[in-house]
Amino acid sequence: MIKLALVTDKPNLHIDYDMPPLLEACKQLSINADVCFWDDPSVDWAAYTAVLIRSPWDCIENLAEFFAWCDKVHALTCLLNVPSVARWGLNKLYLKDIAARGVPIIPSVFLAPDDAPEGYLADFLDANTDSHEFVVKPTIGSYSRGVKRFVRGGSQAALAHIRALQKRGSHVIIQPYITTIDTYGETDLTFFDNTFSHSIRKGAMLMADGTVNVPTPEFRQPREADAEEQAVALSALVASAEVLGLELPLLYGRVDVIRDYDGRPMIMEMEICEPSLNLPFRADSAMNLIKGVLKRIDRHLVDL
Ligand SMILES: Nc1ncnc2c1ncn2[C@@H]1O[C@H](COP(=O)(O)OP(=O)(O)O)[C@@H](O)[C@H]1O
Ligand SMILES: [Mg+2]
Repeated sequence: MIKLALVTDKPNLHIDYDMPPLLEACKQLSINADVCFWDDPSVDWAAYTAVLIRSPWDCIENLAEFFAWCDKVHALTCLLNVPSVARWGLNKLYLKDIAARGVPIIPSVFLAPDDAPEGYLADFLDANTDSHEFVVKPTIGSYSRGVKRFVRGGSQAALAHIRALQKRGSHVIIQPYITTIDTYGETDLTFFDNTFSHSIRKGAMLMADGTVNVPTPEFRQPREADAEEQAVALSALVASAEVLGLELPLLYGRVDVIRDYDGRPMIMEMEICEPSLNLPFRADSAMNLIKGVLKRIDRHLVDL
């Protein structure tokens, strides 16, 4: 019997809404599935036919340990997605790499931890005179942590925030605040094996008064991505597989897309390591993901 580990962490399991449908799909396919915490030393990972990274969201606090865990498990069994995906996909510097392959992204300026920020911010403001507001974010993060919105006149506050992020060793991104998000929201598209599964609308997280919303379920509504959004999102996943030199398409990925002022979709972020996949929005999505896992298990066994 196939044994599958569904990997999460203790603090976040209760807000992983994908876990119940995944467990149900495994049950229907007679797969013996266990929910496992990535940092639980008592788990015998080699005992699993495959290990599926789902919601170990506290890994952001402990990346070196998480990457070491990925390498260890990858050496023992079939880890999905593979460690190179985790390493590259958890750092929004990937936006540079996919933009270099022609994928439209939100116009972005990237700063290294030791770059003096004044010149970068001044150049950004000169190049984006039509943007009344801008966003500063760390390249590694989730749940909008460290993501802040500033007005043009707020350079001093923005510089202080950039410096605080850099002091923590973070690379930093400066982007125009794209106001279409206030009305249209963002569209988050879920793909399995480069096949579009489903999508949702997510409302704006950064409020004008500086507060930041927590992306609770109320911010998510069903929305069918149009053909253009699907094509742009897919191009990001295809570019990712190229950059990483993967033989197969990514088993799973979520691509978050926003519209520019001409209505054209561009990538805001892409989650290919441990995305929330919004599975409850499509009835057979969990089953389709697990079928993709089974395909990879077959391939892994042949490769051994
Ligand atoms: N350039 C932007 N314009 C408008 N809103 C943005 C922009 N960048 C981020 N946001 C808002 O902040 C949220 C978090 O930013 P995101 O880049 O998705 O980082 P995280 O990895 O923290 O989710 C987004 O869901 C969106 O609501
Ligand atoms: Mg996001």
